[in-house]
Amino acid sequence: MTISAHGGELVDLLARGAERDELVSLGGSLARVELTSKQAADLELMAIGGLSPLRGFQGLADWGRVVDEMRLSDGLPWSIPVTLASDVEATQGDQLALHGPDGRLLGVLTVEEVFERDVEREAERVYRTTDDKHPGVAVLRAEGARCIAGPVRVVDLPDHPEAFQPYLLPPAESREAFAERGWKAIVGFQTRNPIHRAHEYITKAALEGVDGLFIHPLVGDTKSDDIPASVRMRCYEALIEGYYPSDRVLLAINPAAMRYAGPREAIFHALIRKNYGCTHFIVGRDHAGVGDYYGTYDAQHIFGEFDPHDLEIEPLMFEHAFYCKITKGMATTKTSPAGPEDRVFLSGTKVREMLTEGRRPPEEFTRPEVADILIEAMESEAAPVAQ
Ligand code: ADX
Repeated sequence: MTISAHGGELVDLLARGAERDELVSLGGSLARVELTSKQAADLELMAIGGLSPLRGFQGLADWGRVVDEMRLSDGLPWSIPVTLASDVEATQGDQLALHGPDGRLLGVLTVEEVFERDVEREAERVYRTTDDKHPGVAVLRAEGARCIAGPVRVVDLPDHPEAFQPYLLPPAESREAFAERGWKAIVGFQTRNPIHRAHEYITKAALEGVDGLFIHPLVGDTKSDDIPASVRMRCYEALIEGYYPSDRVLLAINPAAMRYAGPREAIFHALIRKNYGCTHFIVGRDHAGVGDYYGTYDAQHIFGEFDPHDLEIEPLMFEHAFYCKITKGMATTKTSPAGPEDRVFLSGTKVREMLTEGRRPPEEFTRPEVADILIEAMESEAAPVAQ
């Protein structure tokens, strides 16, 4: 039996045929909302059903209940508001043309409500901090309080680089792909980093208990010191080719932007993967965290606040993985006898530091094929651009 979309029905907001033609010609006469790349990514994910049951940008009732109780106004679990912050003049019943960052018309929104959200409360409840240095809080503050809510119809999706095209797999298609392969239990893996040895370890440990692994890197906005998605995609390809059984793994992109909301985002990430058809979801150390804002396992504990039947997708939790010098392999304290001196902890940040200093990360950190791609990317970034 396949897992249902969140709320029961996989949403599809893409207008086709005559409806699309009408919206495209209508779009030219409507007031324009210039979407940020984050808003365009939200629209894309919503359009293809990744944010089911959402059919538009949320209004005040949903915003308030999501912020305070992690529920939609109908009671369904939801952990991060999906709102459209905008200063464009609008009143209830208006239609607005939503344009992507490249100027293209992406969709039309019918205004249901214009409201002011309490930015401080959203920061405190969702991000657990009001610190401007938190990248998610900084985006929230820059967006501001005023939001426009209402259902959307989508005429076009934002563009993605050529190299991502094979990995554009909307939820309806990932579900088909799982069924074709005969996978019933599928574990989803969220990542915003190259897959290092710790990630490889937990994904493989998870795969031991299920039929397939859905590697689903987030390719929307990330903070400026994260490795760009285009470089990461090459790393995922190389790693899967060399180190995973190709018939047990599926790679696809998640267009969403990172919020760095730690625990709240872990729930959000899990619900998105449920919509893509995953039955299980990996939550490791400091999932979707940044800096010291969250405890190492806060993103695991938050799942305890829900009745598992409400979420349906099952979290697979992993402790902080490290290279164990005694067993000469990846492990956690659950599987290794090593004391602190025999544990080598790896982190994306550490690898990045080494790469910036021109040092090659050791094999206990990163597979050589991945290190080569990262080093080459760093060098070409550092090289002066030819005029
Ligand atoms: S995240 O922002 O997408 O969470 P990252 O790509 O580093 O960042 O992590 C992807 C997943 O791997 C998350 O579930 C995270 O908790 C987990 N993870 C990352 N590093 C480790 C590690 N050393 N040990 C255990 N889990 C880890």
